Amino acid sequence: MHLHRYEKIWLTFGIGSLFVFLITIGVSAFAYGNQPPSHMAQVDPQNLEASPFGEPGLTQIDDNTYKATLVAMAFGYQPNKIEVPVGSKVIFEVTSKDVVHSFTIPHTNVNMMITPGHVNMAEHTFTEPGSYLVLCNEYCGTGHQYMQMTIEVVE
Ligand code: CUA
Repeated sequence: MHLHRYEKIWLTFGIGSLFVFLITIGVSAFAYGNQPPSHMAQVDPQNLEASPFGEPGLTQIDDNTYKATLVAMAFGYQPNKIEVPVGSKVIFEVTSKDVVHSFTIPHTNVNMMITPGHVNMAEHTFTEPGSYLVLCNEYCGTGHQYMQMTIEVVE
């Protein structure tokens, strides 16, 4: 079988990249112990009442750090509004009661998948006052497009 020279170059490049990526992932996972950012925390989705998610809400940790414990469900978040002073760092701990949702704050780095049984975490420092919309970007049912909450960042 005759292969054109360009085809050989592309095949070499393609197969070579595959090995480079596999080795990178392998070294990262097994030598450095890196894992997907889920923090491995688990919770029983049938019995959230017995966990910190039984009373979701905002707690102050220190002067300008807050922890937001939130439950995602079809089709909203509990609570559906939190308020923090400008400059606050908020640590989000989110789980789902039912199906896969997401917790996405547009124009920030906070964009996580929320899976029942797992607790996902992210943190963000709000340096600008305003009303921040939180959206679900995983299709979760007929009310998916209405699923939202707000974070009020006040002076
Ligand atoms: Cu929840 Cu889409």
